[in-house]
Amino acid sequence: MSHTTDNLWQAIRDEVTTAAASEPMLASFLHMTVLRHKSFDDVLAFHLSSKLASATMDARALMELISEALQADPLIAAAARADIQAVRDRDPACKAFSTPLLFFKGYQALQCYRVAHWLWREGREALALHLQNRISEVFAVDIHPAARIGKGILLDHGTGFVVGETVVIDDNVSILQEVTLGGTGKESGDRHPKIRTGVLIGAGAKILGNIEIGTGAKVGAGSVVLEPVPPHVTVVGVPAHIVGNCDEAQPAQAMDHRIIEDQ
Ligand SMILES: CC(C)(COP(=O)(O)OP(=O)(O)OC[C@H]1O[C@@H](n2cnc3c(N)ncnc32)[C@H](O)[C@@H]1OP(=O)(O)O)[C@@H](O)C(=O)NCCC(=O)NCCS
Repeated sequence: MSHTTDNLWQAIRDEVTTAAASEPMLASFLHMTVLRHKSFDDVLAFHLSSKLASATMDARALMELISEALQADPLIAAAARADIQAVRDRDPACKAFSTPLLFFKGYQALQCYRVAHWLWREGREALALHLQNRISEVFAVDIHPAARIGKGILLDHGTGFVVGETVVIDDNVSILQEVTLGGTGKESGDRHPKIRTGVLIGAGAKILGNIEIGTGAKVGAGSVVLEPVPPHVTVVGVPAHIVGNCDEAQPAQAMDHRIIEDQ
């Protein structure tokens, strides 16, 4: 993408320039992380690598790896951009485009997963699993690198999010903290949930088994979902049951947690 037409990158630079001027204690961090870089992709590679670095894998090696992934598959950066827009649009606590990139670990963990997923698809499974482990240690987000996750995802807070190997999450889904998309323990092979577009999953929900959560459905906080959920309904409870319809096309975007009673 041309730097002159990159509106997101320009908005992030402008926000960070203002923040650096108004908060001297953050100026050095903001300069190192954002202002000295030439593009959004460079910032992503620098910042994620500094988060994931460890005693046995340094930030420079990780930055080269992340840059390699971003160059090889432009869909990674496209998804990272769509995720920023999703957080900015849907999270009332997010007032700036730079905030998820700099400070929201759900967002950061998801972008690290995208690199691990690229490695997995490239057949570099051991390195993908190493990244999964580091992401889990650093962010408390444990996503199997084989799982498939679309773009425009709000992973709010991120803490305790667990995703199994055969999970599929379509575009424009919103997920709160402490959600598990796992197996029942009774199936093998393709054994994990499939989350369709526009779904909103409340904090602490556990969705277990190879079941589909239909387009535009809502899953209430703390639910244990063991059966497929039809499109555009709300389910709650342990085990979860249908309590109403969703009149929004995409509850993930509206982030309205109210239940609409059946008419
Ligand atoms: C409990 C479990 C092992 C299923 O055991 P099971 O004896 O085979 O149970 P079934 O699936 O036949 O369900 C029996 C009943 O228990 C209910 N049930 C099953 N699991 C339940 C759970 N976790 N919470 C509440 N109710 C549950 C079912 O709805 C069903 O109710 P019904 O008889 O009224 O229809 C499984 O559902 C489970 O919770 N596994 C844990 C998996 C996990 O932690 N995965 C995370 C991986 S990251």
